[in-house]
Amino acid sequence: MDRVPNRWYAALTCDEVPHGRPVGFERLGEPLVLWREPSGAVRCAVDRCPHRGAALSIGRLTDGALACPYHGFRFDGSGACTAIPAHPRAPIPSRMRLDIRPVREAHGFIWMWSGPGPAPDGAIPFFDFAGYTFAGSAFQERWDTHYARVVENELDFAHLPFVHHNTIGRGYPTEVEVEVELAGDHLQVWQPRDPAVRLEVIGPNLWRMPLGPKLFNFIAFAPVSDEAVVLYLRTYQRIVTWRPAARLIGLVNRLTNPVVLAQDARTVPSQRPRVPILTSGEVYVASDQGVVAFHRWRQQAKRAAEAGG
Ligand code: FES
Ligand code: FE
Repeated sequence: MDRVPNRWYAALTCDEVPHGRPVGFERLGEPLVLWREPSGAVRCAVDRCPHRGAALSIGRLTDGALACPYHGFRFDGSGACTAIPAHPRAPIPSRMRLDIRPVREAHGFIWMWSGPGPAPDGAIPFFDFAGYTFAGSAFQERWDTHYARVVENELDFAHLPFVHHNTIGRGYPTEVEVEVELAGDHLQVWQPRDPAVRLEVIGPNLWRMPLGPKLFNFIAFAPVSDEAVVLYLRTYQRIVTWRPAARLIGLVNRLTNPVVLAQDARTVPSQRPRVPILTSGEVYVASDQGVVAFHRWRQQAKRAAEAGG
């Protein structure tokens, strides 16, 4: 699927991959199986047994190995086949391997490396939430469009008085002037009349927006395919430190945000083509500068990967 090469994508939440059994998800355009090793380390592979193509996600974990449901072949976390029950004394063919996808856990998410280069060891880029706590209440929803369309929407001030005319956009001025700043993978978009309200993206798929001086809305847009995305919405706050109070703030935010998102969910999945690219002929205007900056950044990352950078 269309993706930004050589980046970490927030793809799932950690609690979506339990201990003790494999689970199946579609992400980055592929059916995947994820499981945890006895140490708790998460592993990910294409959800297709190299023997005869059965889905490993409907298999089981046996003695710490992923066992295929069809003929019981077992695989370790590196993807190597460790047992073929029908031929216990025969050598295992070297091609009997899982197609492993690099994954890491951080900030409560499971991250997938988009390749084609090798996954780096360094810290996964994330917003600086120093002093803030995740309020512990999350909301997730699947939309039928490419994730970059939803990122576009979250960098766009001009839609507020139209899409959200009776909620967050009530009385919002229709005339828009935007400033844009890009530093590495970090994009910021704001209006000069209200510079504190910055829409921020860390490419490829993280977004946040302040709701006042002590609260952030955060969304990770996990790519399922070119035609589907899962939004993971969270609240980060520094209003209170007492955990139950923090959870209450998160809960209020969690209950109000879906109303606003439901308004976006009417228009954004209607956009064609689903995968936005700069050359698709869309006629941008000045208020789209943040959107254009995001797509230029995607385009440059793709070119850098093609050039081997
Ligand atoms: Fe998986 Fe045969 S298809 S073991
Ligand atoms: Fe919106």
